[in-house]
Amino acid sequence: MIVQRFVLTPFQQNTRIVACEETLKAICIDPGEESTELVDFIRDQELDLQAIALTHGHLDHVGGTAALHKQFPAAEIILHKGDESLYYGLPQQPLAMGIQPGQLAALGFDYEDPPKLTRNWIDGEIFEVGKLRFRVLHCPGHTPGHVVLAEQTEKVVFVGDCLFLGSIGRTDLPGGSSEQLMDSIESKIVALGDEFKVYSGHGPETTVGDERTTNPFLTGAYQIGKGRYF
Ligand SMILES: [Fe+2]
Repeated sequence: MIVQRFVLTPFQQNTRIVACEETLKAICIDPGEESTELVDFIRDQELDLQAIALTHGHLDHVGGTAALHKQFPAAEIILHKGDESLYYGLPQQPLAMGIQPGQLAALGFDYEDPPKLTRNWIDGEIFEVGKLRFRVLHCPGHTPGHVVLAEQTEKVVFVGDCLFLGSIGRTDLPGGSSEQLMDSIESKIVALGDEFKVYSGHGPETTVGDERTTNPFLTGAYQIGKGRYF
């Protein structure tokens, strides 16, 4: 499996190209913004971009969809139904964050309307990319329609903004829920097994085992709304 990371946007978001080494079929998980480096990598490696695979609808994960889709118009664009309103409301997202209209262009947040989704993720579906088989797991909490993509043979999971090294996704944005997020992490991500490598939407890679045993949100050292316990 090929995994190439591009750190994009003022949010230092991890955009990734993930490809099957044998067939060169590829997906882009969460194109954060327009990037010639990203497009050049796909072309230089002669990858067949099959889909733009979105974990959730926040601007720093979908902001590059329109630009990437113009370069590879045959690629599917897939997102869970629960995040459709976030996705189609992309031009309004920065305003909802309190960014002033006059600052949008300077920050790279002057988005056009995003291209139409080609379909929605279905919880539990197997999504094939060449010989890679991703199980799609609905993990609400950070957003209502967040999904993670778990590859069972390679034992890797792309978790978007559910889980980070030493932390978890924020739940204070519209549609967020701490209870749902903790349930998603425990029942869908931790349940995969300690050996799974975790690719997060921000920051470095980790493993399920490392997070299960050291992440204060998972060990019980920190309880949401109650503070830190030792
Ligand atoms: Fe997010």
